[in-house]
Amino acid sequence: MSEAQQDDKALLAVLGRYVSPTRAQSILVRARRESPGARGATPATQLMARLAEGLRMFCGEADTRAAVAELTRLGSPRKVEAIELELRIEADIARARLAARDLCHALGVSPLVVQKLATIVSELARNIISYAGRGQLALRQCGPARRCVHVEARDQGPGIVNLEEILGGRYKSRSGLGLGILGTKRLADQFRIDSSPAGTRVEVEVNY
Ligand SMILES: Nc1ncnc2c1ncn2[C@@H]1O[C@H](COP(=O)(O)OP(=O)(O)OP(=O)(O)O)[C@@H](O)[C@H]1O
Ligand SMILES: [Mg+2]
Repeated sequence: MSEAQQDDKALLAVLGRYVSPTRAQSILVRARRESPGARGATPATQLMARLAEGLRMFCGEADTRAAVAELTRLGSPRKVEAIELELRIEADIARARLAARDLCHALGVSPLVVQKLATIVSELARNIISYAGRGQLALRQCGPARRCVHVEARDQGPGIVNLEEILGGRYKSRSGLGLGILGTKRLADQFRIDSSPAGTRVEVEVNY
């Protein structure tokens, strides 16, 4: 498979999460046709602009922007300093976990802490998909001089009604493994959760 075909496959995978596979294909074909200079190169600005135009015909502005951010990142996977992911489908949980690993590797995080963060990220992402339907996940270094990863998971779902019970350890999570909210809290160095009928936001810091 040529480099350009590999690029196309990755681009289509992202586009396909926002529009149907057929639409993804036609958006890409048209974008390639209208930005011939970008062929074979990593996703260039010209190509991104065409892809954004194509997406805008089928998605809202917010989704288009989220998609373009993801498409742009495909071109610079080594320079991961912060990651913002839209969680919409089950497969995004695995993607979030991989993104956490990518960021950790870019920052030089120790394997034990990578495991911790991957667990936290998949639990938070799973909760979003299971209980809120969709949401966002942001991963970044806490600050320039801090050996710490900041995770923020937020959604606009129904909120957690029995939060006190959960945090008090009186709720038995489905898996019974304690890997849900309370498990996340235990693994984290800093933990904060805000939940209301307008949605839930979990912020976590893990030192490395
Ligand atoms: N983002 C969310 N939006 C709405 N409700 C949530 C959200 N996250 C968790 N909840 C609620 O809080 C409960 C506890 O979540 P937690 O992750 O601790 O356990 P669980 O998901 O039930 O089980 P496990 O994660 O161990 O499989 C869930 O059962 C669900 O009712
Ligand atoms: Mg859970």
